[in-house]
Amino acid sequence: MKATITAIGGFVPSSILSNEMISRMVETTGEWIVKRTGIKERRLAKDENQGTSDLACAAIENLFETYDIDRSEIDGLVLATATPDHLLTPTASKVCEKSGFTNAFGFDLNAACSGFLYALEMATTMIESGRYEKVVVVGADKMSSIVDYEDRNTCILFGDGAGAVLLEKTESEYGMMKSILRTDGSGTSALLVPAGGSKLPATAQTIADKKHFVNQEGAFVFKRAVESMSNVSRDVLASNELTVDDIDWVVPHQANLRIINAVSETLNIAAEKVKVNIDRYGNTTSATIPLCLWDFAADFKEGQNILITTFGAGFSWGATCLKWGVMRNLRNLQAIKTEKELEHDLVCS
Ligand code: UT7
Repeated sequence: MKATITAIGGFVPSSILSNEMISRMVETTGEWIVKRTGIKERRLAKDENQGTSDLACAAIENLFETYDIDRSEIDGLVLATATPDHLLTPTASKVCEKSGFTNAFGFDLNAACSGFLYALEMATTMIESGRYEKVVVVGADKMSSIVDYEDRNTCILFGDGAGAVLLEKTESEYGMMKSILRTDGSGTSALLVPAGGSKLPATAQTIADKKHFVNQEGAFVFKRAVESMSNVSRDVLASNELTVDDIDWVVPHQANLRIINAVSETLNIAAEKVKVNIDRYGNTTSATIPLCLWDFAADFKEGQNILITTFGAGFSWGATCLKWGVMRNLRNLQAIKTEKELEHDLVCS
């Protein structure tokens, strides 16, 4: 019994925060941001009361509008997020209710930028156990809710968005292969939101000290990201008895284009095989990988091998391989972006 992706959806808010706009907010330039990160713009959820659950629901709606599947058949939802709607009550509960998953369990999983990969692995093993057949896996984050737009070290990096996949059981050769997930708590202080949790609950002082925003030692995290993603990718290829030449596409976490390029060069993978959309969305944390799968779904052909790798706060990191399988029938052909539309998007951005 294997698990395979049979449907994909995605959502990014319509409001764009361009480099030019950021350069009017903090001391930076569009040129610096593009050169050091590859980011040209990011999307922000600006609608009043729009939380992570709304982004997740919009991505799920896009999936169900695009592919032919009955919501009542969904067994479970694993929602990867580092920015839940509330500290108490899982965001997944609201998402299950609003998405019409009436016969399903739902829970949140926080592994920061590795959340989607961890969630994919949890859902895969649930399906491989034979106890569940259809699990929706979502990566969704409203990073703008924890970013200080007066801090040039971080505000240039992050954006809001969500991506969703349907994972189903299959007896075919397609689907998820072996994964490797890793955690190292010694990296905790290098990338975190210091206050608002049980360790340092909110007070007037924590607010005054701006401790509810993302704090990052960028250069240190950068080095660990390149090293960890490269090593874990090599290890996961070996454990699946694959070589770099067997890989058709790489879908990496989108934190910094220089990290993506350094990992690709270390692994000796041609740049044409590496999917990149950080220029348009920035780092959407749990959402980068499913948004990338969604953006480039039209390129993936049955039987092709895809390598996914990620690194994030914690530290948490990992990699997996999958053989792209047969997707569910489309409800609406227009909903899947064609290569031409993507080219058009890039020219416009
Ligand atoms: O997704 C979770 C994992 N996160 C990551 O993987 C992010 C990893 N880190 C990074 O992407 C990069 O470290 C950053 C993009 C955050 C920073 O780039 P960097 O090349 O590592 O810059 P740096 O932090 O080493 O800073 C170099 C210089 C500093 O000035 P001095 O000390 O050399 O005078 C910074 O103050 O660049 C300065 N700087 C900026 N200058 C213009 C930092 N941010 C900016 C800015 N605009 N926005």
